[in-house]
Amino acid sequence: MKKVIIDCDPGHDDAIALLLALHSEEIQVLGVTTVAGNSELENTRRNARKILDYAGATDIDVYSGCERPLMRDLYRLTGAIIHGEDGLGGPHIPDPVIPIKDEHAVDFIIRTLKESDSKAILIPTGPLTNIATAFIKAPEIKEKVEKIIIMGGAVWDPGNITSAAEFNIYVDPEAAKIVFASGCETYLVTLDVTMKAEFFEDDIEELRAQGDKISVIVAELLDFFANTHLEHFGVKSCPIHDALCVGILLDEDLIGFEHTYLDVSVNDPLTLGETVADLWDITGKDKNCYVSKTVDRDKFVDMIKTYMKKTYKSKK
Ligand code: RIB
Ligand code: CA
Repeated sequence: MKKVIIDCDPGHDDAIALLLALHSEEIQVLGVTTVAGNSELENTRRNARKILDYAGATDIDVYSGCERPLMRDLYRLTGAIIHGEDGLGGPHIPDPVIPIKDEHAVDFIIRTLKESDSKAILIPTGPLTNIATAFIKAPEIKEKVEKIIIMGGAVWDPGNITSAAEFNIYVDPEAAKIVFASGCETYLVTLDVTMKAEFFEDDIEELRAQGDKISVIVAELLDFFANTHLEHFGVKSCPIHDALCVGILLDEDLIGFEHTYLDVSVNDPLTLGETVADLWDITGKDKNCYVSKTVDRDKFVDMIKTYMKKTYKSKK
């Protein structure tokens, strides 16, 4: 059983990442922590609970984390355009029944890693503010981290918030810099692969035709997501970025990675948030990150369709 903590900013693709983890028989979600990113924290922490409730995962706790990046105001422009004003636009999903936990997300991450009898996997799919803060507050927890699988960045392809930077890294570049310097085994699932594993209208219709509760709501979430991508990027497609982070736990051949030294631009306004990989080993610095380079799109699309029609079974 793979023990994971998902740190997210739901967000349509975060929601599908959560559902993929919940429906997997080999993943135990120890808890869900939320961060400001796609929308304000009050929305992301509600949306995470809405998804867990809807999937019947009422035994999984949700924690509220940092409401703004370490050094900057929350970037509020694009999230609402892509994910809607409340962060999860589209179908009606009932307000959550499960309460938000009182413990801060950062303290939950620290406590859970310290108490766990085995290492756990961190899966941050939003800005890295919570993870960086946990590492600052309790650096000793790094030895309890099996690996970190981050959705963020772009190395070979352009960014999606600026031509240099991907959204999650751009929103909190200082937090990203701290996490990449953590020394933990780190995998970065970048736009270089997420934008090559997109869902299109026929994929959405096949999901909808599956007819079960979760497949249908995911199809309706993707209807909204595809339309906002059409309006903003001019292409009607759904890059389910975050779900690929969970996907590599279900199929290790889903994504091909390149091991390299990677750092984040934090001082230059032109390249703020850029993830720069030392592919030619110019710096001579120790390799600190496995950067995604290839993806099997057909395998990913089949995975989502297969897992969405499963149901949640508690692993407690
Ligand atoms: O750039 C894509 C990432 O930013 C995804 O995690 C999406 O949910 C947004 O947070
Ligand atoms: Ca996200």
